[in-house]
Amino acid sequence: MVGARITRMDTNYRESISPVERLAICLRFLATGDSYRTIGFSFRVGRSTVAGIVPSVAQVIWDCLVGEYMPVPKEEAIAAEILERWNFPNCLGSIDGKHVVILAPPCSGSQFYNYKGTYSVVLLAVVDAIYCFRVVDVGAYDKGGDGVTLRDSAFGQALQDGTLEIPPPASLPGAEDLGPVPHVFDGDEAFPLRPNLTRPSL
Ligand SMILES: *[C@@H]1O[C@H](CO)[C@@H](O)[C@H](O)[C@H]1NC(C)=O
Repeated sequence: MVGARITRMDTNYRESISPVERLAICLRFLATGDSYRTIGFSFRVGRSTVAGIVPSVAQVIWDCLVGEYMPVPKEEAIAAEILERWNFPNCLGSIDGKHVVILAPPCSGSQFYNYKGTYSVVLLAVVDAIYCFRVVDVGAYDKGGDGVTLRDSAFGQALQDGTLEIPPPASLPGAEDLGPVPHVFDGDEAFPLRPNLTRPSL
C-alpha cells in the first residue's frame, strides 16, 4: 500500500534506498524507539538518513492506511459489540488520554512539560470492545488535562459541534419505555459530562 509513495529514484551519483528498507527502518524505529544513530548502525545508513526516512515514511503510512484501518467511527457495529461483550448499551467506545514521556525537543522550553514533572506528548484515544484503537489524536501538550485535550482535538470538536456521525439515540434493551437514549463515549472523571460523553458516577 505504501510502496509507490516511498520509492525514490536512483541518480547518477547514488542508488536510492529501496522502499522495503525504508519501511523496515521506519517500523524498527516505531517498534523499538531506538535512537536514529543505533538504527543507522544496524541498517548501515547514516543518522541523518534515518532522520529523514522515519517521519516521511510514517506520514505515508498514515495517509495510505488511515482510511482503511482507522476511519472515523460511526458504525453501530462498535456499539453492538460493546453491548455483547461488556453489557453496556449505546456505547461507541472508551476514551482516555495517556502521557507518552519524551525527551524535551530542543528549544521547546516548557511546552511539553507536564504536571507530573516530566516532558510528554499526549495520546488521546478511543478504543472499541476489544481494545482496538478507533481514534487517535497524538501530539497535544498537556495543558489542563484530558478534557482540554479532547476539546482541542479534531475528534472532540466534531463530537461537540455535531459533525461526527454517531448513531441516533436508541432505546435501551429491556427499558424501551424510557424512550430513545443517546449513544455515548465513556471516559473517566477527567472528561466533562455531556449527552454523548459519559463517565462513572462516584
Ligand atoms: C454531543 O452533545 C452536544 C451537546 O453537549 C451536542 O451539541 C452535539 O451535537 C452532540 N454531538 C453529536 C455528534 O451528536
